[in-house]
Amino acid sequence: VDGTNGDPVDLQIRTGKRAFLPGLETSTLGISQDYLGPTLRTRRNSELNLSYTNSLSEGVAIHGHGLHVPGIVDGGPQLEIAPGDQWQPRLSILQPAATCWYHSHTHGKSGEQVYRGLAGMIIIDDEESDAIDLPSRYGVDDLPVIIQDRTFDAQGQFVYSLNEAGEDGWFGETVLINGAIAPLVAAVPAGKVRLRVLNGANARFYVLAFADNRTFFKIGSDGGLLAEPVPMTTMEMSPGERCEVVVDLSDGASAELLVFFEDEIDAEEEGLISGLQNIFSETNAPSTNWSLKLNVDQALVAHKAPLPDVLASIVRPEEAEIANVRDFVLDMEDGGDHGAHAGHAAMDMTINGAAMDMSVINERVKRGVWERWRVRSNQGAHPFHVHGCSFLIEQMEGSVTPPDQQGWKDTVVLDDDDWSEFVVRFDHSATEQHPYMYHCHILEHEDRGMMGQFTVT
Ligand code: C2O
Ligand code: CU
Ligand code: CU
Repeated sequence: VDGTNGDPVDLQIRTGKRAFLPGLETSTLGISQDYLGPTLRTRRNSELNLSYTNSLSEGVAIHGHGLHVPGIVDGGPQLEIAPGDQWQPRLSILQPAATCWYHSHTHGKSGEQVYRGLAGMIIIDDEESDAIDLPSRYGVDDLPVIIQDRTFDAQGQFVYSLNEAGEDGWFGETVLINGAIAPLVAAVPAGKVRLRVLNGANARFYVLAFADNRTFFKIGSDGGLLAEPVPMTTMEMSPGERCEVVVDLSDGASAELLVFFEDEIDAEEEGLISGLQNIFSETNAPSTNWSLKLNVDQALVAHKAPLPDVLASIVRPEEAEIANVRDFVLDMEDGGDHGAHAGHAAMDMTINGAAMDMSVINERVKRGVWERWRVRSNQGAHPFHVHGCSFLIEQMEGSVTPPDQQGWKDTVVLDDDDWSEFVVRFDHSATEQHPYMYHCHILEHEDRGMMGQFTVT
């Protein structure tokens, strides 16, 4: 949906039905569609006017993940739309070109509602990115790739239970790409093809690689284009993250992007990369059904221009500009008081010792000044996400930030017992009535309390 002309975009939050599996209809949720919502396309310096109608029988909050907009239009849990009500946020888009997304952020129910379908992509364009020669024909050589995993029961219905989720969150067994069971096949031109990959999973970390192990280039992360393209053969993505990549199909051969579950690679005890190499060496043609097949169609006009050496200029603040430092500790502990029967539901999920409380403002941040946020995990791996900003990672998992993580981000991964830190500045305000959130983007962790609220004034 083109949102650049400022006309209100009607978005109906509703129930739906989709035949994911042959002969079976799955009950779903969607936004103006049976499952997921339309891609919203907007431009820097334009207004994106959205008009949500909630036709469900439960409340829904819809957040614009990655958008730099004030708290009052951010769509956090304080902005729940009651059944039958409308919500019409006017979003002034002032940030650089980026791939963002929108999804349910309903208090205690984000995981369930996203799982059933309340999510979609937002693409922001700007003049700087128009001026460099990148594939940008939506659906031709610029493709959204929303990866999720779902479990279906024998009747074809989604299986989901927050209470029965393990300590790592809810894992689905079947991969969906853009709302269809993988493999998904796309016809693309014999040139450069750009994929805007969103890890839209509730909890899974994915590792992506091409079946022929070819090199591709990462050109963008959560908050926009990287300074320069970064060559990669495997790419890890945590829930909530976006990666823009360009793959060159000029040789006319088709390519297959494979989706691996990181938890299953790690289970091979070899660490990420060696685990992948095992997969490649043990099975000459890696056989996973979880893939996006890019089939070259010679009839389509191809984007042949070489990738620019410079994509964007990313300016880090001077040390003297850092006005404040904040520490966050993410933790999960067995509550212990409910015994074995309550299982993992008894886990306490906290940040700085407290679970999310809608009536508590945890942090107060000054607008327009740089801060350093140091985030640590006491237990488990967590993708830590912050609303209303993009940030620049300084240290990742206790060591040097890899080149592909050096661009604008809004989600950073913390591994068990380690820490990451980033510098951040908030340019919009968020009040006590409409605060921003920071939280773990494993949605079951978020729903169980691994989230806090902050104001920006
Ligand atoms: Cu994508 Cu607060 O979330
Ligand atoms: Cu967000
Ligand atoms: Cu977490």
